[in-house]
Amino acid sequence: MRLKKGNGGIRRDMKALNEFMDKFPSMMMITDGNARVKRINNAMEKYTGVSRGAAAGMMCGDLICCANRLKSGPECGCGKECPDCGVRKAIEYTFKTGKPVENKEVEFSSKHPGGKIKRILLISTVRITTNRENSVLAAFDDITGRKSVETALKKNNKKLKELDSMKSNFISMASHELRTPIAIIKGYTAVIRQELERLGIDSVIGGYLDAIELNSKKLENITEDLLDSSLIRGCGPRLDKAPVDAVKVLRKCISTADEQAGRKNISIVEETETDCLIVEADEPRLSRAIGNLLDNAVKFSSEGSKVTAGISFINEKKFMLPDKSPIKAAGPYALIFVKDSGPGITGKDMEHIFDSFYQGDNSIKREHPGMGLGLSTARDIIMAHGGGLWVESRGKGKGAVFYIVLPAGERGNK
Ligand SMILES: Nc1ncnc2c1ncn2[C@@H]1O[C@H](COP(=O)(O)OP(=O)(O)OP(=O)(O)O)[C@@H](O)[C@H]1O
Ligand SMILES: [Mg+2]
Repeated sequence: MRLKKGNGGIRRDMKALNEFMDKFPSMMMITDGNARVKRINNAMEKYTGVSRGAAAGMMCGDLICCANRLKSGPECGCGKECPDCGVRKAIEYTFKTGKPVENKEVEFSSKHPGGKIKRILLISTVRITTNRENSVLAAFDDITGRKSVETALKKNNKKLKELDSMKSNFISMASHELRTPIAIIKGYTAVIRQELERLGIDSVIGGYLDAIELNSKKLENITEDLLDSSLIRGCGPRLDKAPVDAVKVLRKCISTADEQAGRKNISIVEETETDCLIVEADEPRLSRAIGNLLDNAVKFSSEGSKVTAGISFINEKKFMLPDKSPIKAAGPYALIFVKDSGPGITGKDMEHIFDSFYQGDNSIKREHPGMGLGLSTARDIIMAHGGGLWVESRGKGKGAVFYIVLPAGERGNK
């Protein structure tokens, strides 16, 4: 800002400058090179409680101290030069160099009988010239309140991170600890079954063993889902990838799910277009993702209904997910689907079913057991493979189709 002399121009420009300063919402002052106040604006009068007449000639620091005035404390203006004051330094720097200072954060503290008061100001300065005399125009914002909110938020954020990490450690430790007893239960169940067979005993115990096996498998699925979920690491699972035949993986998953489906008289029909489709995958994890989709399809479908699952080969270079985000890896791709004719997915369930611990209306009524982890873990696993997982449903009672897309090798390429 440079005000030039000529034809009463300075007076007009000074008037314009004064008007500008008074309309400006931030506090402003014009000082000389020693940070002694020449003029302040309305906002600064309001902030400090000092009239512009009284402010003229004060040191800038003394003037700002007025904003800290305590009701019963001394009047402002102790007359100290305050050489270390950040406000003063910014003004002196701009005056000497002609360079502006932009949004510099300055801590400003003043002593009062009531104690020390700290303020944080955001200061910007620019050199101006009127009547061949240099001055500094300084604008201030008091961000003390905002800063204390920021500090409190940072503190809370740190605490939340600590709690989050404690939660992750607990889930991880508990899940690891559960693995051993589950393996022992499964192992001894198998031993007892073999022993019964060896002794040729055909008893109700066989049915009890079925129940133990089924429930320990469920427990195992929960612990594996927890260990793989992003709840533990904040990101997806770490994969151990190798070329695997997705058709074989799907067939294994179908045969595992068949047991549960049989109990509801549900048939799982396979519809694959190819006998072999190689994908780079962590096989146990890919199995769990597909298994979780089949488990849901069977769990949420009514007795005697049909579930279809299959794979097709997509010979395209690029694949766009329904939300318009592209799959990063170039094609071709394997598209796996699991289709049921169950209750379907509608409304807010559509937005949230992939969130951890989310269970839709149909499960909250506790008709169906579960933790709300199957889909979120499946999605974490598929995302970690660089693929995508989504659902389509034509509405209530019209069933659902879940799709998994993964980068694939050439069809049938082993
Ligand atoms: N095939 C489906 N048909 C209808 N609703 C479904 C289907 N699959 C999932 N859902 C809905 O999405 C919710 C979340 O599924 P998710 O697999 O994550 O959890 P869950 O099956 O309830 O429990 P868990 O998988 O941990 O045993 C389900 O509770 C259900 O409301
Ligand atoms: Mg599930």
